[in-house]
Amino acid sequence: MTKISKCLFPVAGYGTRFLPATKAIPKEMLPILTKPLIQYGVEEAMSAGINTMVMVTSQYKQAIKHHFEAHVEIESSIQGTAKASLLDEVNYAIKHCEFGYIEQAQMLGLGHAIYTGQVLIGDEPFAVILPDDLCTNDGNSVLKQMISLHTQYPDCCIVAIEEVPMADVDKYGVIEGELLAGSEDAYRVHAMVEKPSPMDAPTNLAIIGRYILTTEIFDALEDTQPDKNGEIQITDALMLLAKQGKVIAYKFQGKRYDCGNVKGFVLATNAFAHAQGMI
Ligand code: UTP
Repeated sequence: MTKISKCLFPVAGYGTRFLPATKAIPKEMLPILTKPLIQYGVEEAMSAGINTMVMVTSQYKQAIKHHFEAHVEIESSIQGTAKASLLDEVNYAIKHCEFGYIEQAQMLGLGHAIYTGQVLIGDEPFAVILPDDLCTNDGNSVLKQMISLHTQYPDCCIVAIEEVPMADVDKYGVIEGELLAGSEDAYRVHAMVEKPSPMDAPTNLAIIGRYILTTEIFDALEDTQPDKNGEIQITDALMLLAKQGKVIAYKFQGKRYDCGNVKGFVLATNAFAHAQGMI
């Protein structure tokens, strides 16, 4: 079985919900306390044994690349001071991981962003993290839990799901499926709908920003038509594989903060500050 060794981060989006903050600073560089969202994502991937990070980015987001490079001047200025350890975590990631970057020339949707990364992913199953979904756990990270499930179902894509209020389903891709025999948290997916109205939603089981994808997703993305906004949706491509019984939805252990909107970002900031005894 192929080990999951690469994680793709689709980070080309404009982050318009955070304007004007995101005019010059990538959304993924906004910090929860002192650590940018993208670093939390990279650390989650590392916790799952992954050491190759593939960033699908845009020309306006060079700061992400700079974050994962050494900064000799800052390092020498804090050396020997109380701040000396503040770069330890990011330097650990820089030392132990490979980082690859590819630009998505046009914002044609999450599915298109993932397809753009194919050239750096190659011919092996891979993980996807949307860094604005920030996940916390007492035990194994969400991605580690998903990789463990994937080892049991190596022919399947795995999507992370959580129950959301019915009134909020129109913000998500929603699944319909049946529990796998003997499982209380993994469903064989029969149908997926992108952003349904609460009236039309088959369930309130919403897909969040963690995926394990097999390379069959790239053929599926080629066969996927753009939606009414001209975007290629990953949900539509996954639906093609779900029809063959090749998608499993996993209700993960842990908590997710939707840091892609201001309210979720503030909630995450408060929770992290509380956890550190700051407030
Ligand atoms: P979002 O819609 O949540 O992010 O896309 P956004 O577009 O950056 O934010 P808003 O809505 O304008 O505030 C989900 C993820 O998919 C990536 C985004 O960067 C984000 O991580 N994405 C989306 C791409 O990489 N390319 C796209 O064409 C679309």
